[in-house]
Amino acid sequence: MSEITQINSLSEYKEIYKQSIDDPELFWGKQAETFSWKKKWEKVCNCDFDGPNINWFVGGKLNITENCLDRHIAKKGDQTALLWEPNDTNQATRKFTYKELLSAVNQCANALKKNGIVKGDRVILYMPMVPELTIAVLACARIGAVHSVVFAGFSAQALADRIKDAQAKMVISADVNRRGNKIIPVKEVVDDAIKMNCDSVETQLVFRNGSDEIAWDYTIDKWWHHELDGMSEECEATEMDSEDLLFILYTSGSTGKPKGVVHTCGGYMVYASFSFINVFQYKENDVYWCTADIGWITGHSYIIYGPLLSGATTMMFEGVPTYPDAGRFWEICEKHKVNQFYTAPTAIRALMAKGLNIPDKYDLSSLKVLGTVGEPINEEAWNWYNEVIGKSKVPIVDTWWQTETGGIMITPLPGITDTKPCYASYPLPGIEPVLVDSEGNLVKGNNVEGLLCINKPWPSMIRTTYGDHARCKSTYFSLYKGKYFTGDGARRDEEGRIRVIGRVDDVINVSGHRIGTAEVENAINEHPEVIESAVVGFPHPIKGQGIYAFMITDETLKTKNEFEKEVRAKVTEMIGPIAKPDEMIIVSGLPKTRSGKIMRRILRKIASDEFDSLGDVSTLLNPTIVQEIIEKKKSI
Ligand code: WT7
Repeated sequence: MSEITQINSLSEYKEIYKQSIDDPELFWGKQAETFSWKKKWEKVCNCDFDGPNINWFVGGKLNITENCLDRHIAKKGDQTALLWEPNDTNQATRKFTYKELLSAVNQCANALKKNGIVKGDRVILYMPMVPELTIAVLACARIGAVHSVVFAGFSAQALADRIKDAQAKMVISADVNRRGNKIIPVKEVVDDAIKMNCDSVETQLVFRNGSDEIAWDYTIDKWWHHELDGMSEECEATEMDSEDLLFILYTSGSTGKPKGVVHTCGGYMVYASFSFINVFQYKENDVYWCTADIGWITGHSYIIYGPLLSGATTMMFEGVPTYPDAGRFWEICEKHKVNQFYTAPTAIRALMAKGLNIPDKYDLSSLKVLGTVGEPINEEAWNWYNEVIGKSKVPIVDTWWQTETGGIMITPLPGITDTKPCYASYPLPGIEPVLVDSEGNLVKGNNVEGLLCINKPWPSMIRTTYGDHARCKSTYFSLYKGKYFTGDGARRDEEGRIRVIGRVDDVINVSGHRIGTAEVENAINEHPEVIESAVVGFPHPIKGQGIYAFMITDETLKTKNEFEKEVRAKVTEMIGPIAKPDEMIIVSGLPKTRSGKIMRRILRKIASDEFDSLGDVSTLLNPTIVQEIIEKKKSI
């Protein structure tokens, strides 16, 4: 079997990029040939953006887990596939070789089958960052069940919304989650969610993570260890079509309801591995660590699939960056001699705030590549990452991509293309980013700004939003004809490097988490005393963006503190703590257009203290409200 193309020099990058754009079918066909297929595809790409109707490796049959696991056994059976570092420093590291991981996945897959899960069924995973989460993800894929991992910080209500949308037959959970010095109940949240009319759920499979007593419903709850006990370590991998669903991952958009982004088997596999190998320049025996949670796309593509497809050693960390202290990340890098380290700007900023020189206590000489993802990285954080962590010798890859893109799209290649603070820089092969103006005209040339679109299909792109294809079309493919619209604004510098500035829609990026303003507003409006609310993002020193809520309320006797506490509690209940507003003010009206649409643009400026650049407000329905809100904001 040939190997995936690994780019080794700038001239190769330019050459391969050109080939990939000139003849994408030839290029991606060559990459796909490096995998094991049960039946070869008939056509590489059959896509149109009007449907959209996206098909890669048409007619091909495969199972992604055979490519993640079985394919490596002959050469790498005894190499560590998965390395796990626990939250508690006195607990032991766990390791799974490729052989052991395959056996564990097969046992779990057999347990799922025993519990009635068949190809096409949806399984929700709501779990801590333990190896069993990776095992469960792969076990679903093994038998063709569609996994949908929900970040375990979401509330019961948010979980229930996702279970219902996916019509999931099973939820895999755990008793508790360990985060720093907290022990967070997990099963309780799932129990509450299931009670919210989640009638599709037949089984809750509970991984035991160390609690003593736990409420149990014998009609649906089953222990993981009981169900897996005695199961065969062999399980035939179900044959999947290239375009059969692999997973659904829910993410926020401009409107209220989170949408289920759908990824399929063939194209996702090829792109996850191709991008992993090239962006991280992974070499035999390297230890690779991505600190993301598997509840986000980063964890799917760059903890599980990308690394395992590429035969790498991938590490999972259960805990938080500041426990037992702010040196934890660097202690782990030293302990496991980590070669590639991939994290988020918000984590970098939080650690900087704890002490600029803490990393100096650790030996970080194993590091070869430093990665960042999830939000724009500010120059100060980039410089600290470069100087203090990388000793100015380790290239930083600022990787831009999205849940919808499935894999990294724009990024420097370490040691190959140059790096510049805040710039995601250059597209990977096969990716053709363009900037357009608000009318959809191409913004050509360099030193320009525009809306970021992608001009051509790529293998791991979104196929649909689960159960609502029209929403997929209107969100991504209708605004600018023939292009995929990212929702981001970007600039291209003098040399053609791309800098992604941030969202241009009603999405706020809080600590790298995507939060829809409408979702937060809906939650705030559930508070009995709130009549109407509007939520915007504002610059926050650690989180990147914070959440600012403007609220119209009834007369109240409550103190400001009491009221704000209740609003935060409501948002935590409806969505989860990550969506809690940082700042709130009560106003008597909101700036609206004559058609009644809230002008968030103006509120964004006010929340950021940019009172002098509000633009023309005279056409508003109620122009005087703007001054009132400004006065109120200035007074706090
Ligand atoms: C949004 C996607 C991709 C995995 C994590 C987030 C922002 C992401 C960068 C970056 C500037 C970035 C964009 C994008 N974003 N990476 N390197 N520089 N902005 O996935 O939750 O789907 O969010 O995150 O605004 O649209 P996501």
